[in-house]
Amino acid sequence: MKTVLLDKTKHDRNNFNCEITALNHYFKAMASQQAKKDNTRTFVLEDTTNNSQVIGFYTLTMTPIELRSLPSRLQKKHQSSTSGGLIARLGVDLKYKGQGFGEWLLIDALAKLLGASDSVAFPVIIVEAKDGSKHFYEKYGFTAFEDDESKLFITIADVRASLSNL
Ligand SMILES: CC(C)(COP(=O)(O)OP(=O)(O)OC[C@H]1O[C@@H](n2cnc3c(N)ncnc32)[C@H](O)[C@@H]1OP(=O)(O)O)[C@@H](O)C(=O)NCCC(=O)NCCS
Repeated sequence: MKTVLLDKTKHDRNNFNCEITALNHYFKAMASQQAKKDNTRTFVLEDTTNNSQVIGFYTLTMTPIELRSLPSRLQKKHQSSTSGGLIARLGVDLKYKGQGFGEWLLIDALAKLLGASDSVAFPVIIVEAKDGSKHFYEKYGFTAFEDDESKLFITIADVRASLSNL
């Protein structure tokens, strides 16, 4: 399996439904525009039986790091850093839920950000967990920020260690 960049001329955005209205709206109406403006990149996993059909997507960009929200050992270590990678959105279409695609997309997104950090270093990856997805991210080693439970982080060092074991 392999993700490709969202292509609005090819991918069927209108029928995508991951059950979260804001995510569906972003995918349908914003993702392509935001990529054109170099603000975000959205990658999709296509159904191999029909390349226009989207199994799931994720959106990557950078975000400022609130150093004070990190555990103190990380605050000291990363005090000169200002930015982290951001998995801004991630969704799997209802038809494909519960078949391991969410896990696969998350690992793919982490691998892409790890690759980017080899060229432009940043110490953490942050996710914004939508309704009820906090536990999904915790399962893969993310930790919630103490002052904002809807935001979670994982260090690039931990991602590197985990992915090197795959
Ligand atoms: C969260 C989401 C991406 C998971 O996708 P999925 O393809 O159904 O997940 P998978 O089949 O890969 O599941 C992988 C594991 O995560 C678990 N999991 C899935 N969704 C979960 C959730 N919301 N909370 C906790 N665990 C979850 C599964 O039980 C599975 O664990 P197991 O291997 O021990 O059985 C998907 O349900 C979705 O698109 N939700 C709506 C959008 C959303 O919440 N996005 C994330 C925040 S932006």
